[in-house]
Amino acid sequence: MNILGIESSCDETGVALVQAAASGIPTLRAHALHSQVAMHEAYGGVVPELASRDHIRRVVPLARQVLHEAGASLADIDLIAYTRGPGLAGALLVGAGMACSLAAALARPVVGVHHLEGHLLSPFLSADPPEFPFIALLVSGGHTQLMRVDDVGCYVLLGETIDDAAGEAFDKSAKLLGLGYPGGPALARLAEFGDASTFALPRPLLHSGNLDFSFAGLKTAVRTQVLKLGSNVCEQDRAHLAASTQQAIVDVLVRKTMQALRETGLQRIVVAGGVGANARLREVLNAECAKRQVRVHYPELALCTDNGAMIALAAAMRWQRGEPGQVDYAFNVLPRWALATTPLAPCLTPSPSERGQG
Ligand code: KG4
Ligand code: ZN
Repeated sequence: MNILGIESSCDETGVALVQAAASGIPTLRAHALHSQVAMHEAYGGVVPELASRDHIRRVVPLARQVLHEAGASLADIDLIAYTRGPGLAGALLVGAGMACSLAAALARPVVGVHHLEGHLLSPFLSADPPEFPFIALLVSGGHTQLMRVDDVGCYVLLGETIDDAAGEAFDKSAKLLGLGYPGGPALARLAEFGDASTFALPRPLLHSGNLDFSFAGLKTAVRTQVLKLGSNVCEQDRAHLAASTQQAIVDVLVRKTMQALRETGLQRIVVAGGVGANARLREVLNAECAKRQVRVHYPELALCTDNGAMIALAAAMRWQRGEPGQVDYAFNVLPRWALATTPLAPCLTPSPSERGQG
């Protein structure tokens, strides 16, 4: 069974070919990615219209490249998966249109995948794949969630951010520090030269008792520090502030993840989404997990940010559990779509509030 996966929810066009047998962990045959970061950099953030147009330019050449690298042809594709949401509507429509038209031309089934399901299953493609059940810490540019994952399609939301996502906190703080877009990796690089104890920044909701997050106050505190330091701020102080910001975000993420383990009694963590690439987060989480003899799994670094492999993988794992895909080729996308409402077969049924937003 060969599954072609197409991701186009934001600023990366990703295509991949994954192979799956009736059971066992699916394997990645080839994947290709085009990041639009350079294009959006000039605007300091993603411009949705430009993103959609670029997905249109890239998606067919990337699909060709993936088939070539896998030594496969169109006829070898058995199922086509695409990101149905959440994400930018215009960008999602490019992947959905490509997937459904290709599936119609090849007379193959098509599956609309939840972007976050792709992220949280992505560690199954790593050298050290997890086993169910586990706690998933989903940390991306748009989401910060703790989920209990019992199996494919069995997701219980334990807590989430009430304002900014962790990636957003990185990106907005980086902007305040005069760093480019996307700010997360840039802030992390600058933080390497700083001392995290220099600035006392807030750890919002750290002792709230629940598993929700809030990062908007942290961003305000960073702004206050930047204003205090003034326009003649030295490079060393910027590095100290970057390190202090990163540590505040990491402290909250790790503390709440440990709380989720305690509350559920689970012994395994999966970290997914772009912020999962953060070295400091990995370092602190690894240390805390080692203390508690808890296993922690990450996607391969190349599969931390958006990619087509995780979309093909999610469809493959759903197919293994009896979800065959659709053959009517009509499509809509769900720019806002809660993962916890995603059932397994027979089909993905959006709630009434989600239906109006595609
Ligand atoms: O999962 P992702 O690629 O896209 C979304 O679905 O949002 O995540 C992108 C986010 C951005 O906010 C980016 O700044 C952040 O992940 N990010 C990082 C790092 N690499 C990416 N944040 C901190 N440290 C990193 N090394
Ligand atoms: Zn993502």
